[in-house]
Formats: sequence, structure tokens, C-alpha cells
Amino acid sequence: MTGYADTRRVADLIEDLDQFTATPENGTTRLTYSAEYAAARDFIITHMLRAGLEVRQDAIGNIFGRLAGSNPDLAPVLVGSHLDSVPNGGRFDGPAGIIAGLETAYLFRDLRLTPERGLEVVAMIEEEGARFGGGLLGSRMLTGRVAPADLVELTDDHGVSMADAMEGYGLDPQKAVQAVLAPNAYHSFLELHIEQGPVLEDACQDVAIVDRIVGIAQLKVTIWGRAGHAGTTPMHARRDALTGAVAILSQLSGLPVQTSKEAVLTVGKLEVLPGGANVIPDLVNFTVDLRAPLAKDIDWMISCVRDIVGSACTGGLTGDVEEMLYAKPTMLSPDLHRCLTTNARALGLKYRTMVSGAGHDAMIISAVMPTGLIFVPSRDGISHAPEEWTDYAQLARGIDVIFTTIRDMTGA
Ligand code: GLV
Ligand code: MN
Ligand code: MN
Repeated sequence: MTGYADTRRVADLIEDLDQFTATPENGTTRLTYSAEYAAARDFIITHMLRAGLEVRQDAIGNIFGRLAGSNPDLAPVLVGSHLDSVPNGGRFDGPAGIIAGLETAYLFRDLRLTPERGLEVVAMIEEEGARFGGGLLGSRMLTGRVAPADLVELTDDHGVSMADAMEGYGLDPQKAVQAVLAPNAYHSFLELHIEQGPVLEDACQDVAIVDRIVGIAQLKVTIWGRAGHAGTTPMHARRDALTGAVAILSQLSGLPVQTSKEAVLTVGKLEVLPGGANVIPDLVNFTVDLRAPLAKDIDWMISCVRDIVGSACTGGLTGDVEEMLYAKPTMLSPDLHRCLTTNARALGLKYRTMVSGAGHDAMIISAVMPTGLIFVPSRDGISHAPEEWTDYAQLARGIDVIFTTIRDMTGA
């Protein structure tokens, strides 16, 4: 059967939004509260207004666009994703889910649908953690999982705290707690995302309906040593923080195989200070991203990292392991899984159920409302890279599933 989403409009929205990048020659780089982020926010607001939505920005910069329902007693359905990106990422990770919400709103307008239950599109901040670390921060703040004091502690690579960055963006960090969602504010949350892996493409399938998301922990390991002259300090007298860090790093990649076949570990960020070719490093810090379907496996890997750091910090080195993120493995709503599956089938799409190895705002929001997540195919399974690509017709098919499910849920 023919679909609903306007593929041309979806393609234009994705491409126009992608102008707002700090690295136009090398993918999408849109860090939370940056100038590009502000321009992208204005673009989303313009389209929310054009689609007939009533727009509000919350206390931390998440953007909501509401189409009121005829029955004000019914809590609205929330649909969307995140507006930030990783450094030099792609144009679909995050935006695909926001555009799915926007296109749904455009379809409600074009088809003159009048929902009984409202519908709200959301564009969230800082899912990737690319600026302030940890990740899933917009949804964690919406669900009350971030203490106000953390806004001063969380800093970017230039030492700017989240609180200061909020002020630069025109927000008052003292009011951040106002962003926490009231209980029962929404009926449910739906997110569309690109798969970011090869499964759908290899199986020639259109959509995956996610039933659970793996657990994720992110640690920041810091090793302190003593700076000194590279030419005059004998080897035995050194407290080289990088030598300690290398001893730790060499043991980390072996951890997942000792844990489970689905466990993974990534060190994606490493800093060596003071950063002089002829200076013995006195400080090294690096991130450790750990994922596994079972919480006990995440916990085991965290305790191993702590032990490895402890035993490497001898001979005048000291170390610390800070937990930046701990998101437990998450089951999504079986009811929404059923609705999404029913609609994928009714649309004549090829679909499957899938476990997500990537983190998504859906896993945080599911703690406070029933949540559903669907994936559309990623070409060659590539994501978090400029080559990230999803055919617009495939994206439109996923949006059809979102649209028909929201149409059913809102009684339109
Ligand atoms: C988000 O992309 C994540 O899985 O870290
Ligand atoms: Mn991502
Ligand atoms: Mn994402």
C-alpha cells in the first residue's frame, strides 16, 4: 500500500537541518548550546509553528511543540529524539526521530485530523554526551535524575561548566529542576531512530521494533603522576601518568570476552597533559564505555576496571574512577511494541523485533511512561560518522509506523 509520509518533505527537513553543523566539510558536529545548536533549535521551532504546534522551550533547552487534543483530560503522546550530535557524526542520529515527530504533525495538519488526545513533538538536548560527558542528559534531567549541583561539575573540553553554558544560551541554571516532568504529564513516548548497525539492511527489512536496550555505563578514569623533564629524569625516577594509563588500557580490551558474548567496551577519548613532547605526563584521563544486556555483567566490568586501576597505581601514581553514566538494561513497553508491530504489519512492511546496543533517550524516559522505539535501516550499518545514511524512502516508511500508531493512540 502507499504510505503517508511525504518523502520529499522528510528529505528536505533532514538536509536543511544539517546546515547547522560546526564542521560542514566533515559531517555533523552540533554540540549542545553551541551557535549551531541554537540555529538548529530555531529551525525546529519554525517548523513546529508551521505544522500548527504550540511551542515551548523548557528550563534546560528541550523544545516541545504541542497539538492539543479535544479532550484536555487526556495526557498527550510525546514523540521525538535528540538534536545534538557526536563530533563529526551523521545527519540522521537524533534528527530522524525529531523529523518523524514533525512529519507526523504535518500529516495531522494536511489530513485535517483532530485528535482527542494531544500530541507533542520533542527535540532534546545532550543525548550524546559529546559536550558535557555521560550522555542521555536531556532525558535524565527530564526524569529528575540529575542533581542541580552537577550542572557546575559537568564541564566541556574547554572547562566551561554546563551551568555557564546554559547562561550563555539564555537559560537560568538555577531553574533547571523546573524541566522535570510532572507525573502523568504524558501518556507515552515514541522514538524513531536509525538502527546504527547492519541487521535490517542485511535482512532486507524495513523497520525493527525494539523490545529492550542494553545497559550502559560510562566511566572517566584519571591517573595522576608527576611532570618532569624528558631528557634529564632517569627512567627509574619517573612517575609517568601515561605509562600507568597504558598498563590499564592494555588490560581493558580483554574484559568483554570474559564477561559475555554481547558485552562491549570502548575507550573513545583520551587526554594526556600537559601535552609537551619533552614533558613527562602528569595527568591522563580517558573514558570507558561499557555495554551489556545484563546489569550484573555491567557491574562486574565496572568492578574489574576499578581493580585494574587500583593495581596499576603504584610507584607514586594515583588514580580515580568516576561513574559518568549508569543506565541499566531497559525493557520497553510490551503494549507499545504490539501497537507498533500491528501498524508495521498493516502497512505491509517487513519488520522484526530487535535489542538495541545503542543508548537512546527512550531508555531513560521509559522509567516514567510507557515507551516504544523503532529503527529504520542504516546503510552499511555505519553511524557516528559522516557516512551515516538512511534512504529517505526507508525513513518515510518508519515515519508511517509512527504516524499510524500516534493516530490510533490519539483517537484522531
Ligand atoms: C548513543 O549514540 C550511544 O549509544 O552512546
Ligand atoms: Mn548517537
Ligand atoms: Mn541517537
